[in-house]
Order: sequence, then structure tokens, then C-alpha cells
Amino acid sequence: MLERTLSSRRGNSHGEGDEDILNDDESKTKKQQYILFRFTNRFSTYLSRNGSQCVLCGATALILLLIFSLFFTSRNFVCISSSSFFKPAARAAFFGLDGLDSDFGALGVPCCRSKHGKTVEWTSKDLLKGLEEFVPIYETRPIKNNMYGMGLDHSFGLWFIARWLKPDLMIESGAFKGHSTWVLRQAMPDTHIISITPRHPEKYLKKGPAYVDGNCTYFAGKDFVDFGSIDWPTVMSKQGITDLSRVLIFFDDHQNELKRIEQALKAGFRHLVFEDNYDTGTGDHYSLRQICDQFYIRGGGHSCFKDSDEARIRSKRKEFWEKAVDIEELCGPGEAWWGVRGYMRDNFNHSNQPISYAQHFQNSRYVESILDVYWELPPVAGPSLTHQTRYDPARAPIPIVEDGRYGLFQRLGLGKLDNSVFNGYTQMVYLQISEQ
Ligand SMILES: C[S@@+](CC[C@H](N)C(=O)[O-])C[C@H]1O[C@@H](n2cnc3c(N)ncnc32)[C@H](O)[C@@H]1O
Repeated sequence: MLERTLSSRRGNSHGEGDEDILNDDESKTKKQQYILFRFTNRFSTYLSRNGSQCVLCGATALILLLIFSLFFTSRNFVCISSSSFFKPAARAAFFGLDGLDSDFGALGVPCCRSKHGKTVEWTSKDLLKGLEEFVPIYETRPIKNNMYGMGLDHSFGLWFIARWLKPDLMIESGAFKGHSTWVLRQAMPDTHIISITPRHPEKYLKKGPAYVDGNCTYFAGKDFVDFGSIDWPTVMSKQGITDLSRVLIFFDDHQNELKRIEQALKAGFRHLVFEDNYDTGTGDHYSLRQICDQFYIRGGGHSCFKDSDEARIRSKRKEFWEKAVDIEELCGPGEAWWGVRGYMRDNFNHSNQPISYAQHFQNSRYVESILDVYWELPPVAGPSLTHQTRYDPARAPIPIVEDGRYGLFQRLGLGKLDNSVFNGYTQMVYLQISEQ
């Protein structure tokens, strides 16, 4: 499992070798759309500068522009109905202006540095192939409406990672109605699962769809024990596991991720997935994203200065994206922006501890010192395709199916899915801890 995940090249590279799965001229169309957007932008700037002097030439150019746009984009352009046009994402997608990834990089995407710069072995091509396989599986899920649990993006991520690593044992903490257990089972049909969750998923069966697995040990209900209190050596020997690097742990229990890493490390586990890797200023627990958000990381560190470029960009993006935070929300008293307004949240925000910047900085150094791999799952598809308006794409990696690739989006069967399944993306992360 270890060898399979390691590679010194940058994973998730886009644009390399994924054209065979696209199997058409979408990249060409994308370029044409880009030229069109650039032209539209420049032209509107020209009009705003020259105003009434050029009404006639403006009108002529606009007609030409419309003909041009219809000609080049009629086949693959994302269809925007008049009603959806007024939704922020659709509007942004149409104009190709702020709100999508056009100013990607202005805020940037912070990430945790691994010790030797290693990353995962899989590429964007592998992700695309996986997606092609996963969509029909996802359509058969027993829990169709998994509100408060994983949507499509993270279900795919978990399935893909588990299938790639092929662990000998899978452990999940936080099962809710059992959707993530079902996802793990789809990835590895014969591998044992240990599920840790206070309420047994079978309890939900009385009220509606839930999933209870037949090859799973449940630490649930009266048998519930928190991950950090389980006697792992005894449990591992019961399961016949001698090599802990062949165990995959999935955390979706909304606990401080630093605490979970320390517990996993103590037990000797090395492959961890965190479902909710919340961005700074958001979420109900201290996350890897938050921990590694430091000034020395591109896109990391923040300014609470109200007249800064960051403040301006943030307040603009907040108009477009529900989960984007502006400077007022980001910064607490004393200009504390780290964690959530200078707090380290834990346990669904039931515990909320203030943390100094020095401690926060130390945490990132600690995490970097034990990390072999840090990999954030990209969103399945861009927001002009999915119509999600929740997370800000400027703070996420480039989607697997990028904006503009409408044909591919449809071919993968993603167009058939309800829009709500695309709303749950929170940067799921896969970590590989170095051998201690
Ligand atoms: C967001 S839900 C999990 C969703 C699920 N993984 C899915 O995809 O459908 C969080 C779950 O964590 C459970 N939980 C709360 N505290 C926990 C703990 N200390 N250990 C494990 N699970 C916990 C909650 O009861 C809840 O079922």
C-alpha cells in the first residue's frame, strides 16, 4: 500500500493525458470560450471608458460578438436558462468573471507541506477514469438523501482512495446512517470494516433508509468507544493485522484533527482520510487546512486590515459563495484569524478553546514533521456545471471535470444527478504519516 501511494511527482496534475477519456475537441472549445471571455471583458472596459461616443459601434460589435459566441459555443457551452442566469454561479460562469477560478491564486489554496515533497501516485487521468466507474455505483446508493453526511464529491474521494490503496482493514469514525460504510464496501467488497459511531446505523432503519454492513465490527450504541480510547493493539490482533501500514482510517466525526492525528500516530496507523478539511474561519473543528494556513505557505496567512486587497476580494467573493468568509467573519478580537477567529474548535464546536498564534504555528511545524503525503481531493466538477454556490472554488483545487467541459460532464452521467449532491465539498484530505 505504501509503495503504491508514493511518488515524487506532483499528483493531481491536470491536462496531462486525460484527452483520451475526453475523446473530443473540448479543450479547443475551452480555448475559444476563453478568447471570447477575454474579448467580452476588454470590450466592456472599452465601452465603459468611451461611453456615449461609441454607442453605434458598440451595438454593431455586440451583435458581432453574439454571432461569434453562438458560432463557437453552441455545442459545448454550459446551458444557462433565464431563471438560472440570475444565480451567482451561473452569472459568473456566463461572463467568465470573478466568482469562478478567474482570480484563483489571488487568495490561493494553502496546503500542508510534506517532509520530502512527496505526493500521491494517482493522476487526474486516474481520477477521471475512477469517476467514470463510480457514477453508476453512486446511483445505486441506498441512502439517496444523505443530508449531514457525504455528498458525491467525498463519496467518490473515499471510494477512490480505498480502492487505490487496497487496505487489509478499513476503520471509520463517524458513520451516521451508514452511507460512508456503504462507500467503503463498494470500494473493497471483501475487506473487514470497523465502524465507530455513537448511534448504531440500524437505529436509523426504523425511520428510513440506512446501511448496516454484514462484515463490519460496530463500536456503536452501548458498545461505543471513542477512537482515542480503543485498545488498538488488542483489536488489531483480533483482526489478524500485523502491518498497520495496511490499514486505512476514515474520520468523519468532527473532532479536532490534530487530536486525531496524535491518537492515530500513537496507535501506529499511517493512512488517514479526513472528510471535513475545513478552511480557515469555517467549520466546527480544527482541521489540517487550518493548521497549515501559515504566512510561509502560498495562499496562507491572512490580513485583518480592512482596506487590504484580501478584504476586498473576500467581500466580493462572499457575494457569490455561501461559505466564503469576509474579513469581519475571518478575524476575531486582536485580529486573530487562525483556526476559527483564534479558536481551536473540537467535537462539533461543543468545545472551543482559544489558541495563540505561536501555538498555532507550532502545530503546523509538528504536522509537517510527521507528514509524508498531503493530498486534497479536488471537487468532482466546476460550479458552472454543478450549479453549486456553496464553497468558493478559489479556495479549492482545480475540479476533476473543469468548467466548460459540459460534454464530459454529461458523458460521465453527472448531469443526471440532483444538484444537491454537489453541495457538500469541504476539501477531503488524504494523509500519509511517516513511519515513526
Ligand atoms: C457527519 S456525520 C457522519 C456522516 C457519514 N460519514 C456519512 O457520510 O454519511 C458525523 C457522525 O459522527 C458521529 N460522532 C459524534 N461523535 C463521535 C465520536 N466521538 N466518534 C465517532 N463518531 C462520532 C455522529 O453521531 C455522526 O453520526
